[in-house]
Amino acid sequence: MSDVPAIRISDVSHAYASGSGRIDTLERVSLDVRRGELLCLIGPSGCGKSTLLNIIGGLVEPTTGFVEVDGARIDGPSPGRIAYVFQENTLFPWNTVLDNILVGLEFQGVPKAERGDRAREALATVGLSDFAGRYPHQLSGGMKQRASLARALSLGTDVLLMDEPFAALDEQTRMYLGEELSALLEETKKTIVLVTHSLSEAVFLSDRIVVMTARPAAIKSFIEVGEPHPRDPAFMASARYGETRNELYALLRVEVEKTIGGMVGAAARRERSKPGFAKP
Ligand SMILES: Nc1ncnc2c1ncn2[C@@H]1O[C@H](COP(=O)(O)OP(=O)(O)OP(=O)(O)O)[C@@H](O)[C@H]1O
Ligand SMILES: [Mg+2]
Repeated sequence: MSDVPAIRISDVSHAYASGSGRIDTLERVSLDVRRGELLCLIGPSGCGKSTLLNIIGGLVEPTTGFVEVDGARIDGPSPGRIAYVFQENTLFPWNTVLDNILVGLEFQGVPKAERGDRAREALATVGLSDFAGRYPHQLSGGMKQRASLARALSLGTDVLLMDEPFAALDEQTRMYLGEELSALLEETKKTIVLVTHSLSEAVFLSDRIVVMTARPAAIKSFIEVGEPHPRDPAFMASARYGETRNELYALLRVEVEKTIGGMVGAAARRERSKPGFAKP
């Protein structure tokens, strides 16, 4: 099985039917995700990143093309093989943290006798053992995200999909959870596909970054980061980190410009004030 990629995305295109017309979101995306790799998807807002993650997770069907996980075709949600951490908080407010995890395990069909141990182990992994009996509203934003991560980890899948999991958090919590995720990756050898709009997060966490174009999203470029996990904050001070971040921004800037519709504000004024700028 090891010669089969963890995830194969083969020539996937997608469009949403929308009222009178259609919204093309993905254009011929082909990509193999290696086993044990953390791969980040980054691209302008609205380009189709969540749609691609939903297609991998079997929640949205591609218009053409297909996805395989461990060599088997995805044709619907597959909680036994793929765990998902959504951007928005999806914990049930009326359940404790522990019950939120137990419900997920029940849904996956895990025998009752096993559920408690698996849930407690996952809570220990994210450092929430002492909060098992709390309700989501009694947790901070960072703790809620850790609880969601614990719920996903408890499923014991080799593949983990994460859609901007830390986006709502303050920067220091976000960095700390990033370090934890990197350590977890090294320990568990999971395959993770993570959508982010943070350049720093993408460079700090990724083995490989996939830069996507403006909608309909196609793959614009791959960036190999080439730093072993677990990653240390000192990596952020290295020349390689800075160069990779600059390279990433240069690639993304063009796509963001297409999305926003040309230069606006300060960037436009700066450009116009340059000698030789032709007035329209
Ligand atoms: N269920 C839907 N029906 C119709 N159009 C949709 C649907 N979901 C998303 N879209 C549209 O498809 C496009 C891609 O959406 P998607 O959520 O995949 O983008 P994204 O790259 O994740 O954006 P963001 O960075 O803002 O999260 C957007 O133009 C969005 O408005
Ligand atoms: Mg999204």
